[in-house]
Formats: sequence, C-alpha cells, structure tokens
Amino acid sequence: MRKKVTVVGAGNVGASCALRIANKNLADVVLVDVVEGVPQGKGLDLAQSGPIEGYDVAVTGANDYEPTANSDVVVITAGFPRKPGMSRDDLLMANYEIVKNATEQAAKYSPEAILIIVTNPLDAMCWTAKQVSGFSRNRVIGMAGVLDTARYRTFLGMELGVSVTNIQAMVLGGHGDTMVPLVRLTSVSGIPLTELLSKERIDAIVDRTRNGGAEIVKFLKTGSAYYAPSAASVEMVESILCDQKKVLPCAAYLEGEYGYNGLFVGVPVKLGANGVEKIYEVQLTPEEKTALDKSAGAVQELINVIQQKIGS
Ligand code: NAI
Ligand code: 2OP
Repeated sequence: MRKKVTVVGAGNVGASCALRIANKNLADVVLVDVVEGVPQGKGLDLAQSGPIEGYDVAVTGANDYEPTANSDVVVITAGFPRKPGMSRDDLLMANYEIVKNATEQAAKYSPEAILIIVTNPLDAMCWTAKQVSGFSRNRVIGMAGVLDTARYRTFLGMELGVSVTNIQAMVLGGHGDTMVPLVRLTSVSGIPLTELLSKERIDAIVDRTRNGGAEIVKFLKTGSAYYAPSAASVEMVESILCDQKKVLPCAAYLEGEYGYNGLFVGVPVKLGANGVEKIYEVQLTPEEKTALDKSAGAVQELINVIQQKIGS
C-alpha cells in the first residue's frame, strides 16, 4: 500500500515539502491549512505536475483533518511569522496554540503517525507536540539540525572550494544562535577541518551558520527560508518511510542523554521506520558540553514561559 504523509501548513515550507515528496514519489500527500482554497489549489497544482515530472502519487488539500486519516508521517509547518509589535513571547504562544491544535487533530486521525515538527521556535514546539499527543518519544522529532548542518557544510564548501558532499559535519543543540557546530568532528573526506582552515576562518563560518536563518530573512524581507528547510524535512521523511536508518542531527526528546531530562535538544539520531530508533551520545569536550548546556538552557527558558502561561 502507498504511504501517506500529511503536511500541516500549506505555506512556503509546507508546499515545498509536498513538492519534494511528490517529486521523489515517496507518498500520497495531504496538505492542510486554515486558509480556504489554498491547500486545495496548491494540491491540485502539484497533482497536475505529475504527468510532466513522472510521479503518480496523489496530492490533495483540505481545511480539515478527516482526509489526513491514517497518515504514516505528519509534518507540522503551520505557524505565524513574527509581526511588528509582537513580542517573542507573543509569537511563542501564538504558535503554541497552532501546534497544539494541529497536533490534537493530526493525532486523532492518525494515532500511529510519526510527527516531524518544523514550526518555530522549533524545540519548544516539539515539546508542545509531545505533550499534546502523548506519543512515545521515538514518534515526535524536530527538524533543525539537518538544516543547520546543511548550511554549515555549504559555507565550508564555498570556503574550501570542495564538493559539499565530501564534508562530514554535525550541528547539535537548539535551533537558534546558541546552536553547536561540532568543529572537532568536522572533516573533508576524513581530513580534519582544523588541518584545512585557520581558527579565525572556522569561527567566522560557525558564526555565519548560527545566523544562517537570519541571513536569508534579511534578503527576502517578507519571509524566511524554505528551499533548504523543505529539503531537510523531506530527508527525514524519506529516512522514516524507506527505513533508511540515516544518522542525522534532529531535535529529540531526551531522558537523561547528555544530562538533560524532558527537553528536546538537537542530537544525532538514527531515523528509521520507527522514527527515532537510537540516540547517539557523543563524547563532548568540556567546552562543547558548556556550549550545549547554554543551548539547552535557552530551550528550557521557552518551555518555562509556556508552562507559566498555560499554568501547568
Ligand atoms: P508561511 O507563512 O509561508 O506558512 C505558514 C502557513 O501556516 C500559512 O499558509 C498559514 O495559513 C498556515 N497556518 C496558520 N495557522 C494554521 C493552523 N492553525 N492550521 C493550519 N495551517 C495554519 O511560513 P513558512 O515559511 O512556511 O514557515 C512555517 C514555519 O516553519 C514558521 O514557524 C517558520 O519559522 C518555521 N521554519 C522552521 C525551520 C526550522 O529549521 N525548524 C526552517 C524554516 C521555517
Ligand atoms: C531558518 O533557520 C527561520 O528557522 C528558520 O531559516
């Protein structure tokens, strides 16, 4: 039987995810959005690309969740961008309500699905989805590390003039400017990065990676990145649907790993048919652990705000 993926939010990231899933012939896709007509229109437009691109998966759109029933994977991209006059906490709570509602509805119709969360602030929205769904931790996963690592590899490829496919790297931590690119473990076909670039150049690239999302927003002015974010999300979807068992940096719910409890933090995981099948605990240096602690602390602060506002 064909696999089925629901993408909640038919905006830039959501529609691009649907396009990439269809192009890879991975699964039937249902796009869900609150705006009437948009998911239906984009779904039909994507379906009509099939005869040209050579895919025959069904792509449809809806404003409710009934058509999403029995999805294997649900990708949640629904959310508001920050608007003028809106505080960070206002945005946090606005997207909390959206992700809460999307998770409740998606879990009701697809109780066996694996959830991939994309909406920002990412790590706090993963926590929300986990709380609301009550799903086991292998079935709630956040997309950030794959994107942040792709940005890091891209900047290194540009600097070194080598193929990005030869750069092995991993960015851990929360999806924000406290993220932790693991320089010590970065290599080019096995050659340590530290033998190829000066500390100053590496520091500059780490800094650019940390601000990779903001750099795109500055160019686009009215929105944020979506080509690389959708590519990253669909790499995760594919690893799950095809049981590829890729080892990727993803936001995972930690229960003691790296010394954190009850928090989503970006760490290396094995992604297969059961979602997160293994969490890898990398031996960190004291400096790396301090940086990860700072990042996890930033995630915890957002959870504290949510808990205060909802009174739990
Ligand atoms: P967008 O504004 O293009 O799309 C968001 C869509 O969500 C809109 O179509 C809107 O109508 C829909 N929506 C709002 N409330 C909804 C609800 N209750 N149910 C269903 N749909 C609803 O935004 P874009 O660029 O697609 O980004 C989506 C989210 O993903 C944002 O929160 C953004 O910050 C985040 N993001 C996260 C990344 C990551 O690395 N984790 C990377 C890129 C974006
Ligand atoms: C990004 O990193 C906005 O989180 C989004 O592009």
